[in-house]
Amino acid sequence: MTFNLSTDLPAWKKLQALYNSSGKDFKVTEAFQKDPSRFEKYSKTFTNFDDSEILFDFSKNLIDDEVLAELLELAKEANVEGLRDAMFAGEKINTTEDRAVYHAALRNRALKTMAVDGKDTSKEVDDVLQHMKEFSDQVRSGEWTGYTGKQITDVVNIGIGGSDLGPTMVTEALKHYAQPGLNVHFVSNIDGTHIAETVKGLNAETTLFLVASKTFTTAETVTNANSAKTWFLESAKDTKHIAKHFAALSTNAEEVAKFGIDTKNMFGFENWVGGRYSVWSAIGLSVAIYIGFDNFNNFLKGAEAVDTHFQTTPLSENIPVLGGLLSVWYNNFHGAQTHLVAPFDQYLHRFPAYLQQLSMESNGKSVTRGNSFTDYQTGTILFGEPATNAQHSFFQLVHQGTKLIPADFILAAQSHNPIEHNLHQRMLASNFFAQAEALMVGKDKAQVESEGATGGLVPHKIFSGNRPTTSILAQKITPAALGALIAYYEHVTFVEGAIWNINSFDQWGVELGKVLAKVIGKELEDKTQKVETHDPSTKGLINKFKEWSA
Ligand code: F6P
Repeated sequence: MTFNLSTDLPAWKKLQALYNSSGKDFKVTEAFQKDPSRFEKYSKTFTNFDDSEILFDFSKNLIDDEVLAELLELAKEANVEGLRDAMFAGEKINTTEDRAVYHAALRNRALKTMAVDGKDTSKEVDDVLQHMKEFSDQVRSGEWTGYTGKQITDVVNIGIGGSDLGPTMVTEALKHYAQPGLNVHFVSNIDGTHIAETVKGLNAETTLFLVASKTFTTAETVTNANSAKTWFLESAKDTKHIAKHFAALSTNAEEVAKFGIDTKNMFGFENWVGGRYSVWSAIGLSVAIYIGFDNFNNFLKGAEAVDTHFQTTPLSENIPVLGGLLSVWYNNFHGAQTHLVAPFDQYLHRFPAYLQQLSMESNGKSVTRGNSFTDYQTGTILFGEPATNAQHSFFQLVHQGTKLIPADFILAAQSHNPIEHNLHQRMLASNFFAQAEALMVGKDKAQVESEGATGGLVPHKIFSGNRPTTSILAQKITPAALGALIAYYEHVTFVEGAIWNINSFDQWGVELGKVLAKVIGKELEDKTQKVETHDPSTKGLINKFKEWSA
């Protein structure tokens, strides 16, 4: 069925009617009483290429068979499968940029034919990976040395957005696999503090900069890279030493050469890789250096296994499809505005920040693929922090606030740091289970009173419950498991976008601010000259800034 507005789809209308009749009053605790097999029915286990498993428990969500059947019908009517197949066939589904969306080709470790414009990508992708392997092996072994012959001890990735968030998150998440004595740092912010504080403790002789930018024109990255070059040359003096200390991860060989980086030290990828999907590409070089190529390869293979699952599993058993459909159910029918992702895992502390770009840059759109403004909600506001910290900050609102906040909780059964006879891990896990249970079952008036509360205190101690969570239980956060988790969220984002009929792969919304910043940047050069343009607020702020910074 071709459609423009998702609200026109018959299944959408049926879901609205279902929500109005019974969906809005659905009680998940009652559903468990009615159906003792609910956990088994709504839990799905993903088996990775290395036979490790991840359990996705969807049973605490506000769905029953009728709702789920209609959501699956919605996926059919919205042609999720057709669009998915078009993506995996290398078709140009990013229509506003006329590009294929082919990050899956970057983790095609089976080396299947995956073509764009009739040209197979597998060889080219594998060649870059081989180059990354060689280079990362050399840096890790000490064969690659700095200009004075010393081994590299510090790798600084300079990038922003997808050229920063992916490698930052993945190196943090897989720190356990890092080589001792080799440190990674990430500089993204144009605030000079970021690069200044990063290089403060570093030695130019043993520092390698990776300038990560798909376009190599991003103002923040180019400015930070130039500052890094200045800092480096203060010690190295001669530009001929740059070749040993700067590598580029980019699609733009011309700009890389202009910057002064030897294109032999350039790791390329194609424009069919979106920035927020680029950690699998050369942008992941800092990861490969940090954890070693074999681990990086397993990271890719974990994602590849999810790609296969997403492509070949019937919709009703398809884990990312279910995750995406739940998101639509909450956003568009229950009126939820947000989605919380709380990893019960310190290694995953940057995972929510990473997912923010993935989800919000992809689906923060209000125009359909048919070029009409939507008359329904799209992109959810994704946020999160690692639990248990989050429990002691914003979970109050999740438990007792006025908003419905569907949440994903993530835990690995085995800790990489089972200290104190695993006491920490048991406490962490007990919170993972307890939070999801508490959000679901809540605490009613009778219970509160039976515990001794009286009078005006009673309502304050009531928890309404019925707040949905998806519990994601991995066995261990390995490279393979992390690759799978990221790919899961990529495909959830894909399914949401397909149903909302938006282009999840462009990002025009970041352009306007960039253009205005350029204009204002020029105006700030002369501190004494007051500006007369702009709206009164912006003008007032700029002139006060000039006065105070003079
Ligand atoms: O902010 C827009 C954006 O294009 C992101 O999508 C991207 O990840 C980021 O800028 C960085 O872009 P580049 O890798 O080209 O420097």
